[in-house]
This record gives sequence, C-alpha cells and structure tokens, in this order.
Amino acid sequence: MLRRGLLLLFLALLLLAAGATVALYHFSMSALNEPGRMETYLVTKAKFWIISRSARGPLPQAPPYDARSVAIGQMAYGGECANCHGVDGRTPTDIGRWMYPRTLALDSAEVQQWSDAELFWIVKNGIRLSGMPGFGKIHNDEQIWHLVHYVRSLGTPPR
Ligand code: HEC
Repeated sequence: MLRRGLLLLFLALLLLAAGATVALYHFSMSALNEPGRMETYLVTKAKFWIISRSARGPLPQAPPYDARSVAIGQMAYGGECANCHGVDGRTPTDIGRWMYPRTLALDSAEVQQWSDAELFWIVKNGIRLSGMPGFGKIHNDEQIWHLVHYVRSLGTPPR
C-alpha cells in the first residue's frame, strides 16, 4: 500500500517536472509581447493587496494640496519621471511604453484609485520587478508629497 502511494507520488512529481520544462521551453523573455489576461489579472491583484497593506500606518505630515505644491511637484517630475511617464504624465514615452510591465499613464483610473498614502508609498519605495524606481534615497518626505500632489492633480486638480 505504502509502496503504491510512493510510486504515485513519484509519477505525479515526474509529470509536474515535465510540465514545468515544457512551460519554460515556450516561455519568452521578450518585452514586446503583450502580457496575457491571466497574468495581468493575477499580478495586478497581488500588487494592490501588497501595496495597500504596506502603505498602512503613520504617515509624515503632508503640505497643503494646492497649486504651489503641485507646481513644485511638477518641476521635480519633469526631471525624474517624464522620461518614462511622458512630459504631461498622461502619455508614456516609447521607453516607458515598451517596458515590461508597461509604464502607466498617471491620469488613468488604475493610478488615480490609489489613496494619497498609497501613492506616497509607491513614489518613495518604487515597485519591485517593474521599472518603477523608488525615490526615497533621493527625496525627503516633503518633496515626495509634492510629487504625489502633482500625480493627484492629473485626476483631481486642487480647488
Ligand atoms: C524608468 C521608468 C520610470 C520612471 C523614471 C518613473 N516611473 Fe513610475 N512607473 C514606471 C512603471 C514601469 C510603472 C508600472 C509599474 C507596475 O506595473 O505597476 C510605474 C508606475 C507608477 C505609478 C503607479 C503605480 C501603479 O502600479 O499603479 C505611479 C504613481 C508612478 N509610477 C509615479 C512615478 C513618479 C512620481 C515618478 C518620478 C518621481 C516615476 N513614477 C518615475 C516607470 C517609471
């Protein structure tokens, strides 16, 4: 009885290994292929879950959300973000577009649905396994808030 169990386990492992080999054989490293629906769905879900969990907790004081803060953020944006996300934040450049995962338009619903705390976390820490760098070693918290305010202004401008 035990012998048969072991044999079945061995066969199952063999099948799994064969499946993994075939999958690897067909896997392409090209960044040009469009991500599949399943891949996008699973990775996006995981990203939202992990980032929203990471962004909980106390936040450094934000400067007021006004035209001044947005203008300071926009200035830093031009030097540090525009080469991927595009000069206006809405149209990723060729370099941004052909990264894998693709650079997002910052006025899109996908980006604007993040809370301020989550945007702050993203700009400060970046996103692993994507082209999105973390700016926490370059900017202090106040400057990161100005960048967040610029990103937010693309969806909801300050009044
Ligand atoms: C080298 C290219 C590059 C630069 C420079 C860059 N980004 Fe990104 N950014 C990306 C990519 C790629 C993504 C998409 C990551 C993903 O798949 O979630 C992204 C995502 C984002 C997101 C949305 C996160 C999400 O997944 O919804 C925000 C907000 C953002 N970037 C803001 C900025 C700001 C602000 C700067 C400048 C301070 C900046 N980025 C600089 C490549 C870049």
